[in-house]
Amino acid sequence: MTPLLKAPDTTSATGSPLLRFYRSAIGKKLVTGVTGLALATFVLVHMLGNLLLFLGHQSYNAYAHHLASLGPLLYAIEGVLLVAVLLHGAIGVEIYVGKRRARAEQYQVYRSVGENSYQSLSSRTMIVSGTVLVGFLVAHLATFKFGPYYPTDLNGETVRDLARLVVEVFHKLPYTLGYSMVLGLLGLHLRHGIWSAFQSIGALQAGIRPAAYGISLVLAGAIALGFLVLPWAIYLGWID
Ligand code: HEM
Repeated sequence: MTPLLKAPDTTSATGSPLLRFYRSAIGKKLVTGVTGLALATFVLVHMLGNLLLFLGHQSYNAYAHHLASLGPLLYAIEGVLLVAVLLHGAIGVEIYVGKRRARAEQYQVYRSVGENSYQSLSSRTMIVSGTVLVGFLVAHLATFKFGPYYPTDLNGETVRDLARLVVEVFHKLPYTLGYSMVLGLLGLHLRHGIWSAFQSIGALQAGIRPAAYGISLVLAGAIALGFLVLPWAIYLGWID
């Protein structure tokens, strides 16, 4: 007789109601979806903010300075983002490990099971792209947020010259190439992530699913390309 695989007990009655909700399958889906959407919103805003460098160093530094001057509000947003990354990553790994354990036999060939299958390279590589993105984030913060502080004058005030740092970094080919690879993976992650986050929070009825799937592709591509143009514009000398 084939031994039955026992699913892990995610509905344990112990702990606070919040902890029990987090442990439940529906709670996990909801938390991954909500944190994923929060992070996707951040990357969209961050990508648009970066494009200000096309308007000049002053515009970019003024924007960064404006953000920095938000003070406690900025710290609160950063705190929320950090918690979102940790929860999103932890549940992502948990779901991945759970799926691998539950699968008695690994599929050797991935095939669409019909028109409505949303399996793709992007959905199958979420754990890889997600892991690379977390590693990237650590290096990215070390390069920029905690990188060198160049002072500059902005309307009589001394502010951080982040524009100079960004230009300095992307004059180096290894950085521009490395960022290009990571941004490709970001696009791949968002391609499945955006669509699936809406699905996880129960916002997609069957009728609008194909449209949402298409919009997810367009948004993911726009975000990755929007980020990519800056390093290459700098490297090619279009921005100095
Ligand atoms: C060409 C691409 C990118 C450029 C030029 C860029 C530039 C920057 C700069 C200059 C900062 C420092 C801001 C400050 O200290 O005020 C920063 C912070 C940050 N970046 Fe990026 N970034 C890029 C891509 C990304 C991507 C793809 C992600 C996420 C996947 C990301 C996530 C972050 C985060 C989380 C912070 C910290 C924000 C904060 O603490 O306020 N960045 N980035």
